[in-house]
Amino acid sequence: MAEERIGVGAAEAQADSAKTDVAAPHVLVAVTGGVAAYKACEVVRGLQKAGCDVRVTMTAEATAFVGPTTALTHHGVLTGLFATGHEAGDPIAHITAAEWADAALVVPATANVIAKLACGIADDALTTALLALPATKPLLVAPAMNVHMWQAAATQANVMTLTARGVRIVSPETGRLACGDVGEGKLASFDAIVAATLRALGPSSEGLLAGRRVVITAGPTHEAIDPVRFIGNRSSGKMGFALAKAAAAAGAQVTLVAGPCDQPTPAGVDRVDVISAAQMHEAASSAFTAADVAICAAAVADYTPAAPADHKLKKGREELDHIDLVRTTDILATLSADKGDRVVVGFAAETNDLIANAQAKLARKGCDLIVANDVSRADSAFGSDTDRVTFVTADGCKELPTLTKAQVADEIVKKVAALLGEKQAGEPAWRS
Ligand code: CTP
Repeated sequence: MAEERIGVGAAEAQADSAKTDVAAPHVLVAVTGGVAAYKACEVVRGLQKAGCDVRVTMTAEATAFVGPTTALTHHGVLTGLFATGHEAGDPIAHITAAEWADAALVVPATANVIAKLACGIADDALTTALLALPATKPLLVAPAMNVHMWQAAATQANVMTLTARGVRIVSPETGRLACGDVGEGKLASFDAIVAATLRALGPSSEGLLAGRRVVITAGPTHEAIDPVRFIGNRSSGKMGFALAKAAAAAGAQVTLVAGPCDQPTPAGVDRVDVISAAQMHEAASSAFTAADVAICAAAVADYTPAAPADHKLKKGREELDHIDLVRTTDILATLSADKGDRVVVGFAAETNDLIANAQAKLARKGCDLIVANDVSRADSAFGSDTDRVTFVTADGCKELPTLTKAQVADEIVKKVAALLGEKQAGEPAWRS
């Protein structure tokens, strides 16, 4: 078994955890002795990639599945009350770990450790550190076990006890289990565990935009050449729709002006479907008259055919070898020109000179914030589920770590709320 051990944490992941001016949240990952222990490595890596500083504690049983590769987490792994700690020579390493942590995550959580947590048993370094975790700090538990162990009345009662105390259970999934049984008990997905941990770390955007009206443009536009042909682009609309979801979750009344795309409408969002840049401009301008915030996430066509045909052009008879184009209206610049003390946000997708180009765009468009995206990076490319963005404002730049689009949307919502707070001591112009 020992030869096949996999280290918890990886040097390359630590390198991925980019240096940013976002304070890195501290996560104590507690690995207990189940077959799914190897998946903790991926979770540690995911948290590091999302910008977290991670320390690991393991039970003795967990070390039979996964090697405590001390050096690779840069902190040491806490495995014994008297043996080793995150800080070499620390006689109370379990207390130090609990104080250091902003949140703790048990992954995978065995039935045995869940029972110990429910009863307050602290008979090793891991359970002692978790018992020492102040109640104000989030504790997440991601169970993984045989279906009958999971469904056992004792386990379910213990889970209810933990839930009642505010412990967040990242529910196991149904599937084929290591023991061969099929049923509930499979460790939740990597994405679900990392996302739940990041959510727990907060600060939550909940309520940050309560009572605010937000207009968001999303997706591509299609510029008609004739009734069957158009000029378009490959925008998926994912970012704009993630923003609509995040702003609605933060309490805003959201109008989503969407170009042609397949994304489902987030709950509670008013969606206005448009096709062309001109229609998007009209819908966004109209919604902005009674809004506090505009976020222009759409990939609007810069040019449109000057004279679209009202019938399908025939290549044999009509000139199809060139199309006269005219510039579309810049929606972001137009809304910014009329914003007063309201907040307007734009995006910049760049392949080089990211910050210089974004700063130039901020000035040219007159908006409050440019979300600059380096699309030359693999973790930020078109169609990617993650983004690596930098917030560019008149006050400076803030580089965020690699995040999912949903997390980027949440960070934008928080930034917008902060900008609104700075700009509006009283009521916005549209309310008076
Ligand atoms: N935008 C807009 N209306 C347009 C064009 C762009 O609202 N007609 C907005 C986009 O939604 C985005 C930002 O402007 O927020 C992007 O700026 P843009 O000048 O289009 O950037 P690029 O297309 O990258 O242009 P450039 O070639 O100048 O980099």
